[in-house]
Amino acid sequence: MLNQIMDTLLLCICTFLPCLYLYRLLFSNPSSPAGNPPPGPAPLPIVGNLLKLSARPNESLADLAAAFGPVMTLQLGRVTTVVITSAAAAKEALQKNDQAVAGRCLPDGVRVAEYPGSSMVWRQANQGWRNLRLLCSKWIFSSARLDAGRGLREKKVRQLVELVGRRTSPVNVGTIAFATMLNMISNTVFSVDLVDVTSESAQEFKDLVWSIMEEVGKPNLADYYPFLRALDPQGVRRKTSGYVKKLLDVFDGLIRVRLVERAGPKYEKKEDFVEALLDLKEKGEATQISTHEMKCLFLVRDHFIL
Ligand SMILES: *[C@@H]1O[C@H](CO)[C@@H](O)[C@H](O)[C@H]1NC(C)=O
Repeated sequence: MLNQIMDTLLLCICTFLPCLYLYRLLFSNPSSPAGNPPPGPAPLPIVGNLLKLSARPNESLADLAAAFGPVMTLQLGRVTTVVITSAAAAKEALQKNDQAVAGRCLPDGVRVAEYPGSSMVWRQANQGWRNLRLLCSKWIFSSARLDAGRGLREKKVRQLVELVGRRTSPVNVGTIAFATMLNMISNTVFSVDLVDVTSESAQEFKDLVWSIMEEVGKPNLADYYPFLRALDPQGVRRKTSGYVKKLLDVFDGLIRVRLVERAGPKYEKKEDFVEALLDLKEKGEATQISTHEMKCLFLVRDHFIL
């Protein structure tokens, strides 16, 4: 008899606890920012305000802003989001209070390996990020560097024009223009052409980059319900890990080749970004940047190379 009571009790506890946990996950108030959040529509249980966003979120947000003002709070699933819709409010946030809002919100799709922690686009605005930014402004975007690369850019555009002139069959301008851009950047960084403008490889590379953008841009349940991250219900992170790994491998290969070349006799120094980074590392001036960070530096969301 006592055993039975104990069993029933245990059963009750075992079913009750997960239910309580699930209830808390779905219904309790998500942690809201300190102080009073800006006004916004009343959230429904579980979905919050997700249903207020139509297939045209730009128009839905404009309608909501008409009701709640230029700064409003939306509850997207379990994530509290502050939406800014006027230029004046955006200026206030991004120019006057940039330090306070400099944190980045990572979509689950980019939480791949240690990539977001190392990339200039995704890492939090801390000292490491400032170091990377400083390196880039000095070694890539300084006027001296940009001037030095001018001849190279002109050469690449000339090659593109010649190629189009020679062709008798139709050309896919998007693909070859992409390949030209890609090679301009890869020459600045690695002194190599990453793709052959005339071959399939240009299209493959473009598809790879495009796939990452598409996956990361898709609405992902795990972004609205962070407790689902471990499950990756739509498989977004599984797919992006594959793509990101492929790109990182390409950069890894290029950096390795350079390291071997540098170690060889009669090495002629190259005038590119990787050379500058490796020199800085050797001199101990950029010890804060790891090889992994170097790879990730070349991979960002929209242009994937710096
Ligand atoms: C909102 O975005 C859609 C798709 O990008 C576009 O077709 C539509 O014109 C936009 N609406 C307004 C009011 O700009």
